[in-house]
Amino acid sequence: MPRPIEALIHQSALAHNLARARAAAPDARVWAVVKANAYGHGIENAYPALRAADGIACIDLNEAQRLRALDWRGPILLLEGCFETRDLELCSRLKLWHAVHCEEQIDWLAVHKTHEPHRVFLKLNSGMNRLGFTPTAFRAAWTRLNALPQVDEISLMTHFSDADSLRLGADGIAHQLQVFQTATRDLPGEQSVCNSAGTLRHAERAGGDWVRAGVMCYGGVPDFPEHDAAHWDLQPAMTLRSRIIATQTLKPGDTVGYGSSFRCEGEMRIGIVACGYADGYPRHAPTGTPILINGRRTHTVGRVSMDMLTVDLSGMPEAGIGSEVTLWGHGPQGSVLPIDEVAHAAHTIGYELMCALARRVPVTVHGL
Ligand SMILES: Cc1ncc(COP(=O)(O)O)c(C=O)c1O
Repeated sequence: MPRPIEALIHQSALAHNLARARAAAPDARVWAVVKANAYGHGIENAYPALRAADGIACIDLNEAQRLRALDWRGPILLLEGCFETRDLELCSRLKLWHAVHCEEQIDWLAVHKTHEPHRVFLKLNSGMNRLGFTPTAFRAAWTRLNALPQVDEISLMTHFSDADSLRLGADGIAHQLQVFQTATRDLPGEQSVCNSAGTLRHAERAGGDWVRAGVMCYGGVPDFPEHDAAHWDLQPAMTLRSRIIATQTLKPGDTVGYGSSFRCEGEMRIGIVACGYADGYPRHAPTGTPILINGRRTHTVGRVSMDMLTVDLSGMPEAGIGSEVTLWGHGPQGSVLPIDEVAHAAHTIGYELMCALARRVPVTVHGL
């Protein structure tokens, strides 16, 4: 009997969420972002649904190779471009489009021997200060690229730091959008600026020619808790579920787990769940993190350990060994526990939880 934990990947949810990106930015084409192994869902598992996108964006050449092996013939964009000069050979061979964010990447292109000129996405650092040319260096970079026989089309991109939030005022993108518009004024080429948050919140103004939909394809909400999945009509594409493998009845003053961080005030029943941080569940999830038992909501108690965690079974006399536990995603009888709620309780974001699904967790794919 295998350990009862498993992850389910819901391809119909991926398809639905991708359609939501299209609907949110009807004038743009959509990149489905599949970096980090499709945000933990598995590129091969997600592909049958995400192949409906106009292009697929990733980070690693390995991911691009896997997409071509799946027979994806459409555009692939390397969001960070090449990491060294020889990566360009694979770009030529696999017809990959790639970001160009620094002078060195232009130097590599300039000495690259190819019969297949490349399409590149020239990246502006409009304020995020990770990748990209500064506004003052941007035009010179464009001119340099434009003169290279190795390049046949230059598109223009930037990335927002606050498209998901109100930190920079009611509109988190205004400043960066202005910087982008100024730096690219009169330059030809398609434009791409929006991630999921930009797509959902700002596409009318900033949609451009291509949006880059990442977490929303997987049902993650980029601006939780301001908005939730129901607000944006997104469906969980990953369920993590397990079972109760033991119960304990505790007396007042008893403690639970490592560090005795939870002490019970009155008599209570707890369930021990076959899921721990070695499965990808966040160790820092505190007492009170939401969880479903047989589709009913309760919460964790005590510390998460490597292979187990504990839940409050108060008011759930029917729960016992074998009861179904939903860590996130779809539970029985139509119940749902959004990954964002679990992430929020654990002081992180849904992105991190889905990407951290551990290799030891068996994955079952629910087809389209
Ligand atoms: C350049 C770029 N575009 C798009 C995305 C997708 O972002 P999200 O998952 O928030 O949609 C990312 C992810 O970090 C990114 O780095």
